[in-house]
Amino acid sequence: MKHLLKMLDLSREEIIDILNLADQLKYELKHGIPHHHLQGKSLGMIFQKASTRTRVSFETGMYQLGGHPLFLSASELQIGRGEPVQDTARVLSRYLDGIMIRTFEQKEVEDLADFGNIPVINGLTDFSHPCQVLADLMTIREFKGSFDGLKMCYIGDGNNMANSLIVGCLKAGMAVSAATPENYRPAKEVMDFATGFDCFSITDDPKTAAEGADVLITDVWASMGQEGEAEQRRIAFKGYQINDDIMSAANTDAMVMHCLPAHREEEITTKVFEAHAKEIFEEAENRLHAQKAVMVKLMA
Ligand code: CP
Ligand code: NVA
Repeated sequence: MKHLLKMLDLSREEIIDILNLADQLKYELKHGIPHHHLQGKSLGMIFQKASTRTRVSFETGMYQLGGHPLFLSASELQIGRGEPVQDTARVLSRYLDGIMIRTFEQKEVEDLADFGNIPVINGLTDFSHPCQVLADLMTIREFKGSFDGLKMCYIGDGNNMANSLIVGCLKAGMAVSAATPENYRPAKEVMDFATGFDCFSITDDPKTAAEGADVLITDVWASMGQEGEAEQRRIAFKGYQINDDIMSAANTDAMVMHCLPAHREEEITTKVFEAHAKEIFEEAENRLHAQKAVMVKLMA
């Protein structure tokens, strides 16, 4: 593994390896065992979109690994004034040991990896959010013990989270169901990948998708960059909400996860969110451990 660009690139073995290391790093952090695997290394973090979790967990994680994180706001970089990503990649490769980037187009992340010669980590694009899904898989395994026999159900927008969850959960060995409105399905390459699995199904009926689920996941109806469509999306996604009715179709011990930020009473009710706060905030914490594992795998 040279980069972390999207879940489609990872093998099951690579995913399990990252999760095992993440568990170990979590244990070491909780027990005060130093793990300075990245001493003397620097990670540049380019943000073209807002972030709370990704920024703070990468910055803290790099510090805990003995390395140096640099926050690079795209609006203050020359990239924000039109310097091509090809040149930015070649320049940053001369200074840094790794780049994390959060941006719009997946192609920009892929170009950064192609033109530079240091590891690139996708901190979210419109197409995928692999760091989040590695943390989600870590959380599922932590709560359920293993992936064997589990079913993950995603309800809502066929967005970056849906794309990455469907691929990540199938690769991990889970059954996957998704419910999205017809016009908001996951990306074609994700559908092409998923339809090769007998244990994958997609419908426009959330309750059908939730039947027998062990893990229920949703995400915002309007992602970053789609604020202008918020009203239209609120109409399109009405009913695609994790609520008591949906929970009644899932297994009684089903966990609920959300990458956050959450819009209560839109994609999830306050009641369900608070009843599952334990899983949701462990999931947020696990961003730190999973990303540290990714940085060690790529940069140590
Ligand atoms: N879930 C997630 O990526 O959160 P941030 O947008 O706050 O980084
Ligand atoms: N789908 C959301 C995820 C935020 C972490 C977005 O892209 O805004």
